[in-house]
Amino acid sequence: MSSVSKSTPHWWQRAVVYQVYPRSFQDTTGNGVGDLEGVIRRLDYLVALGVDAIWISPFYPSPMADFGYDVADYCDVDPLFGDLATFDRLIDTAHHLHLKVIIDWVPNHTSDQHPWFIESRAGRDNPRRDWYIWRPPAADGGTPNNWGSFFGGPAWTYDPRTREYYLHQFVKEQPELNWRNPEVRAAMMDTLRFWMRRGVDGFRMDVIHLIIKDAALRDNPPDPNAPADLPANDLHQRQLHTYTEDQDEVQEVIREIRSVLDEFPDRCGIGELWGPLDRWVRYYGEHGEGLHLPFNFRLMDGMVWDARQMRASVDALEAALPPFAWPNYVLGNHDRMRLVTRFGGHAQARVAAMMLLTLRGTPTLYYGDEIGMADVPIPPDRVQDPQGLNLGVERTRDGCRTPMQWDGSPNSGFCPPSVEPWLPLATDHRERNVATQAEDPTSLLTLYRRLLALRRATPALVGGGYRPVDEAPNDCFAYWRNHNEQRLLVALNFSDAPREIASPGLAAARVILSTYLDREGPLSGAVLALRPNEGVIVAV
Ligand code: GLC
Repeated sequence: MSSVSKSTPHWWQRAVVYQVYPRSFQDTTGNGVGDLEGVIRRLDYLVALGVDAIWISPFYPSPMADFGYDVADYCDVDPLFGDLATFDRLIDTAHHLHLKVIIDWVPNHTSDQHPWFIESRAGRDNPRRDWYIWRPPAADGGTPNNWGSFFGGPAWTYDPRTREYYLHQFVKEQPELNWRNPEVRAAMMDTLRFWMRRGVDGFRMDVIHLIIKDAALRDNPPDPNAPADLPANDLHQRQLHTYTEDQDEVQEVIREIRSVLDEFPDRCGIGELWGPLDRWVRYYGEHGEGLHLPFNFRLMDGMVWDARQMRASVDALEAALPPFAWPNYVLGNHDRMRLVTRFGGHAQARVAAMMLLTLRGTPTLYYGDEIGMADVPIPPDRVQDPQGLNLGVERTRDGCRTPMQWDGSPNSGFCPPSVEPWLPLATDHRERNVATQAEDPTSLLTLYRRLLALRRATPALVGGGYRPVDEAPNDCFAYWRNHNEQRLLVALNFSDAPREIASPGLAAARVILSTYLDREGPLSGAVLALRPNEGVIVAV
């Protein structure tokens, strides 16, 4: 698979993106919730870490029914997080430090407190009625169709005042915009322009493949493979999402969004979407006129710690991508179990870090993964996430959203010791934190810093091709990243036992980085010996 870089790569091809969940990054007002000023204060940390761009989860005015993914004003900042002046300072400071800023954009739904929805629900003849998806009850008075909400129950809520149902595939406080209405499209495109004028470099677009629904609102078919033990109110997972996700007409909207991004130089569109590879790849556009980076969740969703499966996923992606399409990888975010927890522990997390930062494509890191934060068990009475509240505490996403662990002080430097943080801190925060790991030459944080520095200094790791090594044992994943004269081998041992990779190409090779952080230098012979759960980068 070819090495890309005929022309200078775009910033979003070279960049490593770091996701900040602002509620949990740094509190500067002493209310137990992080804020934008806190992000500004921690930018130096991110520069020292070696990332190139930050993606900030929503900070818009919001009643927080879904922690900011219920937006009441697309063009402002919630007072909890700061104000537009703070945001402008964030952009200026970040740009001064050569960091790009990507923000979340939530086009599928607004808050029920958004002025558009308040108008829309005011009356059937309100000019904004058709900005949302309203339908009369079915003949029996029930919901217009069988669609379920991701967060439990039906995707429809009855509004007694106007005697119709409105659609919401998340909580009922997140009514869905009608993207078939040109006025909605125009208004939403203007929100993109608003932030680009303020200097934003790109957008992470929330559930972008959901914004168009079947025109006839047909019932979704049942999913024959749905788990048997679903809670009674989980209608969503009992269905296939044939008529609610990835409708063909969404591609036309994606092209329109792209053309708005292209009104400004060098902006980047990243889409949150999932689905089978052949459908997913369409979001790049037929000739690159779609999204720059449709998020690729395939190394995370449904993936266990298995070298063959990882390789198969990467190979399939590489084979599916048209030449103009740039890959990307992610191992954690604010909706998924932390990677340490998912992949079995800290030994695996080190190998995962090396994999994520050496594959061909743009990696996105999730805050705290660089120090090995694990999912925090949340006491049932402290569960906040609507998914956990509605579908059972074991489904809560709070565990991966806990406060960043900065130091060994009582609230770990996230908020003042006297204040209760909005979610509990991990019990290991006194030992596992940035301050401790920054001083430790063998810590996970040091490994991330070394990997990021190496990536930045090594053209093959950014622009090189990807070629898997067939001779690697089954429980190892190894691949070449070659670029012009530079030849690098990445070898990842997924097993708890020593392994060897022998290849004639390895004669005269030398180790440049091990996940153990304790060896560099020439190999003896053409055999690469890997210790249990060791990853190494070898230069030939
Ligand atoms: C996306 C977000 C998630 C949110 C949902 C509804 O999946 O990542 O956090 O709950 O959309 O906006």
